Amino acid sequence: MYNSRITGLGKYVPENVVTNDDLKEWMDTSDEWIQERTGIQERRWIDPETSDDTTSIMGAKAAKIAIERAGLTKDDIDFIVFATLSPDMYFPGGGVRVQELLEMDTIGAIDVRNQCSGFIYGLSVADQFIKTGMYKHVLVIGSENHSGGLERSTRGRAVTVIFGDGAGAAVLSREEDTTRGVLSTHLHSEGKHAKELSLEGPSTGRWVDAIMEDNDPEDVSYYPYMNGQFVFKHAVVRFSEAIIEGLKTNNLQKEDIDMLIPHQANLRISQFIQKKFGLGNDQVYNNIMRYGNTTAASIPIALTEAWEEGKIKEGDNVVLAAFGSGFTWGSAIIKW
Ligand SMILES: CC(C)(COP(=O)(O)OP(=O)(O)OC[C@H]1O[C@@H](n2cnc3c(N)ncnc32)[C@H](O)[C@@H]1OP(=O)(O)O)[C@@H](O)C(=O)NCCC(=O)NCCS
Repeated sequence: MYNSRITGLGKYVPENVVTNDDLKEWMDTSDEWIQERTGIQERRWIDPETSDDTTSIMGAKAAKIAIERAGLTKDDIDFIVFATLSPDMYFPGGGVRVQELLEMDTIGAIDVRNQCSGFIYGLSVADQFIKTGMYKHVLVIGSENHSGGLERSTRGRAVTVIFGDGAGAAVLSREEDTTRGVLSTHLHSEGKHAKELSLEGPSTGRWVDAIMEDNDPEDVSYYPYMNGQFVFKHAVVRFSEAIIEGLKTNNLQKEDIDMLIPHQANLRISQFIQKKFGLGNDQVYNNIMRYGNTTAASIPIALTEAWEEGKIKEGDNVVLAAFGSGFTWGSAIIKW
């Protein structure tokens, strides 16, 4: 048996900064409202006038950095796991585009569709492939282009102000020492709440021609929908459960957490979890202030920044936790 270990991390965010005040161009909102409820000050949105970035392109850019930092080349990678809710195309997924963009050999590529939990699901998939000995180096990417699909109007403001674009990537490599690396991952879902945070059409449940035919100005089925308070209430419970489950599995106490990287859903959720687990400001990493919620990209972007800032050291117990649409949630316990 082997473990998997993160050997390289990378991130990429579009250049275009959109502040809370900038959003007033499209909707009735305020910096005060957004900061008070979510902690967000600004986010990155691809500017199609000045940039060719797409979900796959951003993912490939982050992946390139992660591969270099792992001391590897693209030819060393055995498999791609790509997590997103905003693929360039309805099908195929983004993984195959990364294979093409990075000019990789014809290695396998799988897409993970678990929204805000996407990176943890992807990490778990990669970890299993490495633990069984099938692959040696697996690339895990989380990337999102939200800005193209958000409703830029007062009607859509409760959702639109929260989400941002960006990508993060990690290389998972075989580790012979099974006391380090990814110690365990824990995945959960509860599909009965699928509609509470969802985008209905276009899909096989609501094809494009049905949407066009209705031509209903009140139809919002092709914009993301979120029952904000319902999501919030479930998030705080499930985040905590997933962290406790991970700690218990590894006989760790909350005092053993050196760094918690929560999915950046809302600063208030992170602060609630921090308080609940009695963690100091240096034990929880947040960057939602600068990027908003980047869904599958949020954990790998935050992990990359925490590592770049020297906040994660060898031997640290690093905990990743996420909750989101599905509902899906999960955690990963890593001995760095
Ligand atoms: C989205 C969220 C910030 C909204 O906060 P909230 O306190 O629940 O706010 P509500 O939706 O009840 O709206 C309160 C009021 O603010 C208004 N409002 C909503 N969005 C606004 C905005 N961007 N700017 C200004 N006012 C806004 C509403 O219209 C409402 O007005 P009313 O009282 O006159 O009807 C909050 O519910 C949340 O963070 N939920 C969890 C989201 C999350 O984590 N999602 C990702 C999961 S992975």
